[in-house]
Amino acid sequence: QHPQILEGKHLLITAGPTREAIDPVRYLTNKSSGKMGYALAEQALALGADVTLVSGPVSIKALQGVNTITVESAEQMHQAVMENVDNADVFIGCAAVADYKPAELATQKIKKNNTTMAIELTRNPDILADVAKRSNRPFTVGFAAETNDVAKYAKGKLANKKLDMIAANDVSKPNQGFNTDDNALTVYWPEGECALTHGHKQQIARQLLELIHQQLK
Ligand code: PMT
Repeated sequence: QHPQILEGKHLLITAGPTREAIDPVRYLTNKSSGKMGYALAEQALALGADVTLVSGPVSIKALQGVNTITVESAEQMHQAVMENVDNADVFIGCAAVADYKPAELATQKIKKNNTTMAIELTRNPDILADVAKRSNRPFTVGFAAETNDVAKYAKGKLANKKLDMIAANDVSKPNQGFNTDDNALTVYWPEGECALTHGHKQQIARQLLELIHQQLK
């Protein structure tokens, strides 16, 4: 018996890493497990929301009752988000989207010839910024995964991308952030902030959704 505080709301959530192909057998990625984004989807569903989850490659079982769209690259994640953002009341960008991708995709496996090699990278689209730029946009929540100057960078992203809320995730500390069961966040919005102290990702997800609900009203 969860309070149905998100009943009638459509939440669009991204989760997990992206994979940026180098050649047919190699890619660039990061340590995101998808646990935080899936916890948000699970808790949003429990609070009565309609949930669409755009997920990068993870090894978490699909959530019953959540409309899950699986993607690999940042470009595919961008496209899936743009196709589903129109009827979303809330967007939460929890995915660890690769900022860069290889400038060229080799069609054949790259052979080892020299002692060093360089891969040129080019910028990926910024999904969160593109959602925030829309005229009729959902309540837009970003994450900021930082190893240093966490508050400063998070507040910078909140202001620069004109977000409604940002969850700062200090990923330099053990037992929180990437690929852990627990997390701790500091949440900022234009008129306030709130520390969600160390707890299971399901609990942190619930608290973040309650903050979103309060600010939505
Ligand atoms: O998946 P887990 O193992 O559970 O780990 C959870 C987490 C650490 C991945 C999560 O809590 C988190 O912090 N997610 C954001 C990771 C990240 O990429 O942060 P960033 O500071 O680089 O990006 C800022 C924001 O812009 C994020 O909302 C991100 O989704 C978004 N972004 C970034 C780049 C890009 N090209 N497009 C984006 O939309």
